[in-house]
Amino acid sequence: MSKINLKNRDFLKLLDFTPEEIEYLIDLAAKLKAMKKSGTPHKFLEGKNAALIFEKTSTRTRCAFEVAAHDLGMGTTYLNPTDSQIGKKETIADTARVLSGMYEGIEYRGFGQEIVEELAEYASVPVWNGLTNEFHPTQILADFLTVKEHFGKLKGINFVYIGDCRFNMGNSLMVGGVKMGMNITLCSPIKYQPHMDYVNECRDIAEETGAKLRFARDPYEAVKNADVIYTDVWVSMGEPIEVWEERISELKDYQVNKKLMDAAPATCVFMHCLPAYHDLKTEVGKEIGERFQMDAIEVTNEVFESSQSIVFKEAENRMHTIKAVIAATLVDNIDELCK
Ligand code: CP
Ligand code: NVA
Repeated sequence: MSKINLKNRDFLKLLDFTPEEIEYLIDLAAKLKAMKKSGTPHKFLEGKNAALIFEKTSTRTRCAFEVAAHDLGMGTTYLNPTDSQIGKKETIADTARVLSGMYEGIEYRGFGQEIVEELAEYASVPVWNGLTNEFHPTQILADFLTVKEHFGKLKGINFVYIGDCRFNMGNSLMVGGVKMGMNITLCSPIKYQPHMDYVNECRDIAEETGAKLRFARDPYEAVKNADVIYTDVWVSMGEPIEVWEERISELKDYQVNKKLMDAAPATCVFMHCLPAYHDLKTEVGKEIGERFQMDAIEVTNEVFESSQSIVFKEAENRMHTIKAVIAATLVDNIDELCK
């Protein structure tokens, strides 16, 4: 029987979890995925409800929480970025206590990590982080489930993240990578490296887990032995539109294109948390692409659509891994129910 029990725990950032607990959530997601694929019912949370607070927009995270909760038998309430009282007429602390009286779990997507931490402090039910400026922990579970499905392991995988390493994805992949004993390379100009507090904490974790953490400037050198090349948008939600000019000029050499993929082994895969500016078919992609004379931003369409790209498997895994987080934190005896 598993010794790991995450019942009633918050899921705010991977720094709060041991490598064994993270692996446990990934493996639970794989079991729940198999149950879903085989049509095995798993409505373990019938009659329970979850509040889904989104102060920023979303496709994957919202849909993943809604479908996962529904598959588990739960009801959901979606609170959108404009219609609730949160922050405007009601504090986070009061919101936490109100929602705790009606719901068994609360998801929060928004700005500073301190907001979701405060929500969790005042809530008496589990709080799940659906993305903050600093961390996107449910994304990492999906990414690592996808890597494990593809390569059969996490430990020792050469994982290269390229682009803006200072925001939620760079921070979270660095933490997740060192926790899971991966060889994680963050490749960017020095200005785009994660905050030194996180780097120092991750260096300590790497010493314990045997992970290798390195920072690279030259993308071609960085990807030489890469199993995975991962990137994210160069301008994140909540950042002002004015920063695009600076980002394009400072990160244009870090675009993931065919030449870069070809500098890695042929077995290397491409990953991206999505949404991605891989062509000019979106409003923002078109505006920025035309303004800076680019036909794609952080990744070219050729790479995005290539056989090395596993981005849609990764997107599907958002749902299975979020289901694992909800189930592990709310269901009694989840291991007995998912064998
Ligand atoms: N990857 C991700 O979090 O996507 P959404 O912004 O669509 O939720
Ligand atoms: N860094 C991106 C991630 C989106 C899933 C953002 O915060 O907008």
